[in-house]
Amino acid sequence: CGIVGYLGGKDATDVLVHGLSKLEYRGYDSAGIAVPEDGKITIVKTKGRLKNLAEKLETEPAHGHLGIGHTRWATHGEPSDVNSHPHCSNNDRISVVHNGIIENYMEIKSWLADKGYTFLSETDTEVIPNLVDHYFDGCLLEAVINATQRLKGSYALGVISLDDPDKIIAVRKDSPLIIGLGENESFIASDVPAILNYTREVVYLDDMEFAEITGSGIKYYNANLEPVEKSATTITWNADSAEKGGFDHFTIKEIHEQPKALRDTMTSRIVAGQKVKLDDITITKEMLESYSRIYIVACGTAYNAGVVGKTAIESLAKIPVEVDVASEFRYRDPIIDSRTLLIVISQSGETADTLAVLRDSKKKGARVIAITNVVGSSVAREATDVFYTWAGPEIGVASTKAYLTMLIAVYTIALHFAELLGTMTDEETDVIKKEMLLLPDKVSKVIEQKENIQKFALKIHGEKDVFFIGRGLDYAVAIEAALKLKELTYIHADAYPGGELKHGPIALIEKNTSVLASLTQRSLMDKMHSNLKEVTSRGAKVMVVTYESNKTVDSFVDTAVHIPETIDLLAPVLAVVPMQLLSYYVCSFKGLDVDKPRNLAKSVTVE
Ligand code: G6P
Repeated sequence: CGIVGYLGGKDATDVLVHGLSKLEYRGYDSAGIAVPEDGKITIVKTKGRLKNLAEKLETEPAHGHLGIGHTRWATHGEPSDVNSHPHCSNNDRISVVHNGIIENYMEIKSWLADKGYTFLSETDTEVIPNLVDHYFDGCLLEAVINATQRLKGSYALGVISLDDPDKIIAVRKDSPLIIGLGENESFIASDVPAILNYTREVVYLDDMEFAEITGSGIKYYNANLEPVEKSATTITWNADSAEKGGFDHFTIKEIHEQPKALRDTMTSRIVAGQKVKLDDITITKEMLESYSRIYIVACGTAYNAGVVGKTAIESLAKIPVEVDVASEFRYRDPIIDSRTLLIVISQSGETADTLAVLRDSKKKGARVIAITNVVGSSVAREATDVFYTWAGPEIGVASTKAYLTMLIAVYTIALHFAELLGTMTDEETDVIKKEMLLLPDKVSKVIEQKENIQKFALKIHGEKDVFFIGRGLDYAVAIEAALKLKELTYIHADAYPGGELKHGPIALIEKNTSVLASLTQRSLMDKMHSNLKEVTSRGAKVMVVTYESNKTVDSFVDTAVHIPETIDLLAPVLAVVPMQLLSYYVCSFKGLDVDKPRNLAKSVTVE
């Protein structure tokens, strides 16, 4: 989501709407502003793109010299007018914009309800203005500090009040927020582009630092109300690269966002020593026992995540799983009845073939779990249970962070099923949970190796064909890696199970053929070494992604990318990252449009 706030001599609405237009890449399912005028807070907000808000403001204008605005990417509560930000306290005296996830909002909501507060929306955010109102005793800063003591999770907040007027309080925890310093005017924003039109002087708030913005300046405090010294930074980027957070393209920005996306997906669901928490999946042990089969159905990258899901569910929960592409599944007359559990995976939640499978299966009595990144999307609304990946909006057409979070989703569901069915001990599931929680930092370590990968990309960027091989879950990595290369670089790429080489593809391997392999499945390592020898002995150029401990390959391949150790089941999360980077760099070397590859669309809503 994107936050913007303004206090100064200009018309606040103009500044807020301009700021939001620069933050739309952070969320675009609804937008709104709050501007105090004539003793009340005027709130104008609406579902949909920012242009809907701009249109609404023509008939419902708001004018003032102070205000807060928000562009939303829904996590709790579907995109709707009422779920849009800003949110107000019951008495309409306090208004809040929020970016992040309040993990304990249900608990706070019932605590506030006992005190007589009522709630209009399904959002986690709405508890905040009411909590601030509860603590308000004339000083907005103190009320916000007290309220944040109760909040668990991540937040960046902009808060205004009619009873401590002409002031904005800003605070952040695990969610970005900056303060912009103008001449006799101040700004808050979740990212630089929102304010770059007005100032290049910014202060980066640290976690649990509070800014009190008034007409006479800005004061910074810690949670003990002690003053904090902050210094300003001058932004030297241009507006375009700022929108991409300093990266050249959204795709590479999103690759770098993967550690955060993984953390967000696991937030409140995976906690070491505790059972998996999946509020939106209400399947019981008895239901699970009654299913004769599970199908995972999806398209493109989401299908590739499903291939990992099959192994995860089969090996942890011991239920047989079939995985299929939606456009095939829907026409092959699959056996579906009330003993079928269908899991559909779709980043956008709108893919026509996937949606058709969901609808048809529901008609035949199947229960449907949707894994999607878009709250309130068609698959989310129509499925029986939903797992939201909380990856944030993905702008690059080739999926990267959405894929990684889909992997977390299938692991989490597999663990949940294993816990329900008792197929694993608590100790066994805990080993996996602890390893999952380490993945974000390990992905960061993999990304650090980008120069090595870039060099190999330079070697192969002129190729016409590239082969990807792997066994077991490494084959799942290979199919996603090949898809990424095709999508981003237009190079023909094929993925084969290592053992299938000898049944055909080996005929194509000659001097300088490019072969990329993923080697993370320990029980299959020796066999993959043999496969690699088969291709290197024929002169292939080879890049291998393998664990730090596997130095065997270094002596006979061109490039070895070493990734941190993890358990084999989780290895695709790490092993696919060098492949994403490789495709990105090949694409850049070829000078192609990284974020919008030819002929492809982000969301395919036609058959
Ligand atoms: C399109 C996109 C792919 C995506 C596929 C499925 O083809 O270009 O990147 O994997 O659709 O999309 P979904 O939104 O259902 O995950």
